[in-house]
Amino acid sequence: MATATLSKRSSKQSEAEEASALKFISSIDSTWKGHEKFALWLTQKMQPKTIVDLGFDRALSTLAFGYKNQGHVFGIDWFYEEGSYAEKSFALDSAFSNISYAIRLNYVKNIHLIIGPHSDVLKKWTRKIDVLHIDWAHTYRAVKYQYDSWQKHLKDEAVILIHDVVSHPNEVGRFFTELPFPKFLFPNDHGLGVVSSNVALIQEIEREFKKI
Ligand SMILES: C[S@@+](CC[C@H](N)C(=O)[O-])C[C@H]1O[C@@H](n2cnc3c(N)ncnc32)[C@H](O)[C@@H]1O
Repeated sequence: MATATLSKRSSKQSEAEEASALKFISSIDSTWKGHEKFALWLTQKMQPKTIVDLGFDRALSTLAFGYKNQGHVFGIDWFYEEGSYAEKSFALDSAFSNISYAIRLNYVKNIHLIIGPHSDVLKKWTRKIDVLHIDWAHTYRAVKYQYDSWQKHLKDEAVILIHDVVSHPNEVGRFFTELPFPKFLFPNDHGLGVVSSNVALIQEIEREFKKI
């Protein structure tokens, strides 16, 4: 039937588009590589209005959260306060060029970059957050500070993602372990911790992603 053939073709086309978008996103230099498929799954599942990506660097995680064009993705960074000027400029230039390429190919249209000191960003922040991704400095103190600062802006069943749980077990990992909420850990690629009071969602992530 003509309609069935058409819909088969368009689903093949969107699969091919997704594969090429993923190929591009995964080509960005980052230790976050390996979590893209989960980001796509989560944004489709939750249909979030607001995602905050703390520490966008070259924008891999920001693009992965933005790819399904669900709500708005806010990438926030002030770059390494102590790093060299060249290092900061390079990361920022890469983020701009990666995002602009993704916009040109129609992969994303929902990304907002905020560049500035954390305290300034927080002072002006008003949106309620569905997904908060913390990928910032790797100390216990820094992660706790981020978590505590943003907590009042989270929706009741928000999902908090914390990267580097496995690569920094005594710092980031310790903070993740202490959180008294249902959680799931992706142990691959430096470890991505997922925390939410939405038990059903955590169980679903477990079913979907836990290898037997
Ligand atoms: C590991 S990178 C983030 C990687 C990114 N999520 C990705 O997908 O590739 C950490 C980021 O946190 C930022 N960062 C770390 N400490 C910071 C601080 N004290 N103030 C502002 N930004 C900071 C860095 O500029 C850097 O871009």
